[in-house]
Amino acid sequence: MEILLDSANLPAVRRFYDTCPISGLTTNPSILKKEGKIDFFAHMKELQSVLAGGDTFHVQVVGENADDMLREADVLIEKLSADVYIKVPTTESGLKVMKTIVKAGHNVTATAVYSAFQAFLAAEVGVKYIAPYFNRMQNLGMRADEEIFAMASAIDQTETKIVAASFKRIQQVIDAIQAGAEAVTIPTDILETQFANQTVNNAVSAFLQDWQSVQGAKNIYEL
Ligand code: G3P
Repeated sequence: MEILLDSANLPAVRRFYDTCPISGLTTNPSILKKEGKIDFFAHMKELQSVLAGGDTFHVQVVGENADDMLREADVLIEKLSADVYIKVPTTESGLKVMKTIVKAGHNVTATAVYSAFQAFLAAEVGVKYIAPYFNRMQNLGMRADEEIFAMASAIDQTETKIVAASFKRIQQVIDAIQAGAEAVTIPTDILETQFANQTVNNAVSAFLQDWQSVQGAKNIYEL
């Protein structure tokens, strides 16, 4: 399993890279919008500096046609790294872009995936990851876990991995993993919600109170 952060917020990325088993970052224009009017490449390089060797960094192109997306991919590879994962929407022109980037030996993450057929097409092109949008599928009345299961089965004979995305709730992440996603990219507020869980925190407080009622304020290393 791989856990990635779907975020471009540097403090949150640094925080959870420090505390959690994170192995990569994904961004898109909507995620970047939350950071305001940033210097795009400076910000990308700062995010990249948080990653450890072997982690994956996924950056989305925004061009409205294949030529523009390909020019953007070239610049991302030149300015960030030859190993960057170029996120490309899984449209007809996006597939054309994916074919060219894969042929050149670079990494592609096929994004905006809502169906097993899209997943199948992108996997046959040879992309490294496909990113199905869990919450957005549910918002459309689709059974997102069943779709991911179908995607996993459709791309079973390929090297492509599913990095499930678009999560609003913890249970959605678990459902995606159980349905066959090899990786998940999660917004940092999902982790904040987990660590603010009062039931867990109450259990820890009760242990501390029991300890202190017998041993006083000393820690184990002070005994
Ligand atoms: O990585 C794609 C994901 O960021 C989409 O998430 O929350 O905009 O549906 P959301």
